[in-house]
Amino acid sequence: MPKTFVNPIEISVNQSITKADMDTPFLAVDLDKMESNISQVVAGIEKFNLQWRPHCKGHKSPDVARKLTAAGAIGSTCAKLAEAEALARGGVTDLLIANLIVGDKKLKRLAALCQIANPVVCIDHIDQAEPMSAAMVAAGVQVRVIIEINIGLNRVGCGAEQTRTLAQQLSELPGLKFSGIMGYEGHLLTIADLDEKKTKIEAALKILSDVATELAEINLPCQIVSCGGTGSYMLSRMQPNITELQAGGAIFMDQFYQQQCGVEHLEKALTVYATIVGRPTENRAIIDAGKKTMHVEYEMAVVVGRDDIQVESLSAEHGTLKLSGEACQLAIGTRLEFVPGYADMTCVLHDYFYAFRGDNLEAIWELEARGMLQ
Ligand SMILES: Cc1ncc(COP(=O)(O)O)c(C=O)c1O
Repeated sequence: MPKTFVNPIEISVNQSITKADMDTPFLAVDLDKMESNISQVVAGIEKFNLQWRPHCKGHKSPDVARKLTAAGAIGSTCAKLAEAEALARGGVTDLLIANLIVGDKKLKRLAALCQIANPVVCIDHIDQAEPMSAAMVAAGVQVRVIIEINIGLNRVGCGAEQTRTLAQQLSELPGLKFSGIMGYEGHLLTIADLDEKKTKIEAALKILSDVATELAEINLPCQIVSCGGTGSYMLSRMQPNITELQAGGAIFMDQFYQQQCGVEHLEKALTVYATIVGRPTENRAIIDAGKKTMHVEYEMAVVVGRDDIQVESLSAEHGTLKLSGEACQLAIGTRLEFVPGYADMTCVLHDYFYAFRGDNLEAIWELEARGMLQ
């Protein structure tokens, strides 16, 4: 059953759609700013002779992934097998699934994915690898595998000391192609002092670098040594032996990256437009966007170009604004533009990105992998 849309989805060459034509709330992308962010990231990564495999967990859109590969990314990093399948269907095929894949159903799908794409998946225990090997052999395919190492995030990942044995085991299993290692320095993004952040990222990524050297010595070279997020890649790119970076949210930027991760060089390309629907008091306004429209738990949203309006709180479908000065004159029906606190968790609340060049709608990108959690 096709969905019905409140906002227009047909763009005809003769008909120009502007922001004013759109009903609120809607998720807007400023194409000039996004393209500038992409160019900055590409240049910043190329400068260190690294490759860029941006994480798609925020945008979840094959359209966006294709735009990024056209701009220089080698493929995409994904959080879920289903995300990788959606991107592969959309024509992006060099896919790192930065996650552990377990269970017969998923292994069959992974084997099928290998027929149309070239995925690489993470392993941190032999018990994930053996069934994967059997499933790939049964399907007559080979899948690239990398070892995820715990570099301090204490999420997934084996210890560095277990990597050598695991790499040897992986290299001997049929149907698997040992291809390298990864680690994510996500626990170090919000260190305020730049020197301390740099030192700690260096120390964390040295774990990856040392393992890569050690594996090369036993004839198991790492084609892929992957790490890096938007809040760290400017420092991670300087570390030895790293081959590629995963920074993805950088294309949109947000308040969290700026306020808590110290990211200053990127523009806020993703915003939410909302309308004032209530004016209960002189200094309070209510908008038609709440927590189901934008994510503010890590960092509060801000109104673009207005320091006389503060987002005070969001409930499910209402937002409460505190007004001061001239903002106290704002009438019901006024539209405002918001930078969300965290772009990643805001995107997933929406079905579509509406991408504008200036005021004109240029593209609509579906978040096709939204809700694809398996
Ligand atoms: C494995 C992995 N890589 C990279 C990132 C960074 O993503 P982003 O650049 O979108 O912040 C994350 C964030 O959660 C992650 O889990």
